[in-house]
Amino acid sequence: TRGKILTVTAEELAKHNKPNDAWMAIRGRVYNVTPYMDFHPGGIMELMRGVGMDATELFMEVHKWVNAESMLEKCYVGKMETNLPVPQ
Ligand code: HEM
Repeated sequence: TRGKILTVTAEELAKHNKPNDAWMAIRGRVYNVTPYMDFHPGGIMELMRGVGMDATELFMEVHKWVNAESMLEKCYVGKMETNLPVPQ
């Protein structure tokens, strides 16, 4: 998927739930956090609580001041698919 921006379904996101293949959605954006794993100040175990899912709430509970958008810029995979109705 290198270099390609995707629209990610919840089903696809859920497949990437391992330390060596870890995706995470935060505020509608999906990141491949695999390369960040060893650098997370809260440790691997904590980061793993949020992989393969929408981790927005967990993230906000623990550190709402952290700027994920800028920190994870290079890990950006794509946007979460939304089921919002298309305006007529
Ligand atoms: C600490 C980044 C996801 C749990 C931190 C800190 C940063 C950070 C920068 C240090 C904050 C500070 O000292 O002010 C990130 C990024 C994430 C992420 C970029 C998304 C990829 C998560 C998730 C959890 C989590 C999903 C699980 C609930 C923690 C905890 C600490 C921490 C518990 C506190 C460690 C301590 O104070 O000893 N994280 N984090 N983080 N993170 Fe995350």
